[in-house]
Amino acid sequence: MARSVIIATGSYLPARVVTNDVLAEKVDTSDAWIRERTGIITRHLAAENETTSDMALAAARRALTAAGLDAQAIDGIVVATSTPDTTMPSVASKLQSALGSRGGPALDVVAACTGFVAALSVAHGWLETGLARNVLVIGAESMSRIIDWNDRTTCILFGDGAGAVILARKEDESRRGILALQLESDGALGTILGTSGGVSTTQTAGFLFMEGQEVFRHGVEKMSSVTRAAVAKAGLALSDVTWVVAHQANARMIIAIARQLKLPPERFIVTLDRHANTSAASIPLALDAAARDGRIAPGDILALPALGAGLTWGCCVICW
Ligand code: UT7
Repeated sequence: MARSVIIATGSYLPARVVTNDVLAEKVDTSDAWIRERTGIITRHLAAENETTSDMALAAARRALTAAGLDAQAIDGIVVATSTPDTTMPSVASKLQSALGSRGGPALDVVAACTGFVAALSVAHGWLETGLARNVLVIGAESMSRIIDWNDRTTCILFGDGAGAVILARKEDESRRGILALQLESDGALGTILGTSGGVSTTQTAGFLFMEGQEVFRHGVEKMSSVTRAAVAKAGLALSDVTWVVAHQANARMIIAIARQLKLPPERFIVTLDRHANTSAASIPLALDAAARDGRIAPGDILALPALGAGLTWGCCVICW
């Protein structure tokens, strides 16, 4: 039976680390408030000339090295991002050129913080239909470019970075691979999280705005319900889940989801203390960290829930 298996992970974080105290010099906030209300301690921010595709390329190279694969073996690239280098071509196309791989599909997926789960669904479809055999699936974001650095309610929350996985078609008897995917959305909730501009309106990217409490409420409710739905679709019980690698938005949100799902918070991978919210990059960054430090082991069941602008939300269940 053909399965879509994550055979390697990689990630990249910009060198520049910014503490809460540095932000407190610019806006009316404090290290204590940020830690208590969000769990964030530091974030990485891209250098002035560093682009989303630069970060995606570094993460992709690390995943290729981990897989022991040459870039020529990649026959599909899907990048989840809301902060591309240019409106066109896509980050995926730039990445294909930089890697020197040829042929096969290359495109970006825009689903904000749900982007990586949506990108997995695209890649899974390519593998199932025989369109590709080894797909680079990447979440990469330059959130610092769409932040209003004078707005204390949003500027403290976000960071930059990229995470990559190689999703490969495998035909073996093992259970490993994608077991279930669930994607949902409600465009009527588009007003509570978004940017103030765009190509066809202001000809600028605009700045990120968010009704924090509302997004928090929907995030807890919808990431919990979509995890339940995806785990049930996989024919599993929540107690079978070894690790929840949720979108990293707020530590209090992760604890609230754990409570809703009646799972111990220790089963949630947390990287937002060091990475902050990197939107579509947050899940693959967390996956790479936990896979490399040995927490995630073969046979583990993973649930990857996310929620972002749209509103969009989804969850992928994987046997590692
Ligand atoms: O990735 C997409 C998904 N995004 C999310 O999931 C984010 C979800 N939302 C959140 O994480 C939280 O709502 C925030 C962290 C954004 C805000 O936390 P909160 O506990 O909901 O705070 P709040 O908005 O209710 O604000 C409480 C107070 C307000 O002051 P008053 O009106 O009570 O006097 C804010 O003005 O905290 C104030 N405040 C701040 N104070 C110090 C807001 N931001 C800051 C700040 N520093 N940075």
